[in-house]
Amino acid sequence: MNIAIIIGSTRSGRATPLVGKWVEQTAQKSISDKATISVIDLADYDLPLFDEPISPKYNPDRQSEGDVKKFLDDLLAADGYVFITPEYNHSVSGVLKNAIDYIAFETNKKAALIVAHGGMGGVRATEHLRNILSELGLVTTPVAVNLSGMVAMGGIIENDGSLTNKESGAQGMLEGVLSDLVWYSAALSSARE
Ligand SMILES: Cc1cc2nc3c(=O)[nH]c(=O)nc-3n(C[C@H](O)[C@H](O)[C@H](O)COP(=O)(O)O)c2cc1C
Repeated sequence: MNIAIIIGSTRSGRATPLVGKWVEQTAQKSISDKATISVIDLADYDLPLFDEPISPKYNPDRQSEGDVKKFLDDLLAADGYVFITPEYNHSVSGVLKNAIDYIAFETNKKAALIVAHGGMGGVRATEHLRNILSELGLVTTPVAVNLSGMVAMGGIIENDGSLTNKESGAQGMLEGVLSDLVWYSAALSSARE
């Protein structure tokens, strides 16, 4: 089973990769006996503003190329996902929504965990993202992880990817929901076969 961690911001000086480091390290420690862990960093793909004439889900003749194809192939290779998003203006980042708009069938009947961060814990982005992902056929774990405060300003995650004491309660929560993600991903994977 492959779990892909999606880094959902691309701006310069972004904090989301640090959240990704924490999630990846925790996943390596807590679920690597059941899953391989990969990272899909949106900054590694050149995904222009979505501009296809037909909605991907309704375009059986679609031929993707270049980084769009690579992004979709990398998504297809995973059985479950951790979507990490910052909250921008009470929702998900624009680059994450743009990337999601490229998805056709690649995530269908798979599982997703949402990890959000922002001044108020990214809770509004979380609820928007839950609705968006359901349109892509994804089943989200009942519990999401929300980190309150500005990760980039320090005091939440150390540079080595470990949590500071202030947020140490989130560690057990992340381990628990990663375990849930593996459960849902495995159940859906065998049901898809
Ligand atoms: C354009 C923009 C809009 C933001 N809007 C919100 C917001 O509505 N609510 C909030 O709690 N934080 C908001 N923030 C703070 C970000 O969620 C926070 O700085 C986060 O760590 C940014 O992640 P990034 O560095 O990966 O882009 C906003 C930040 C930016 C850049």
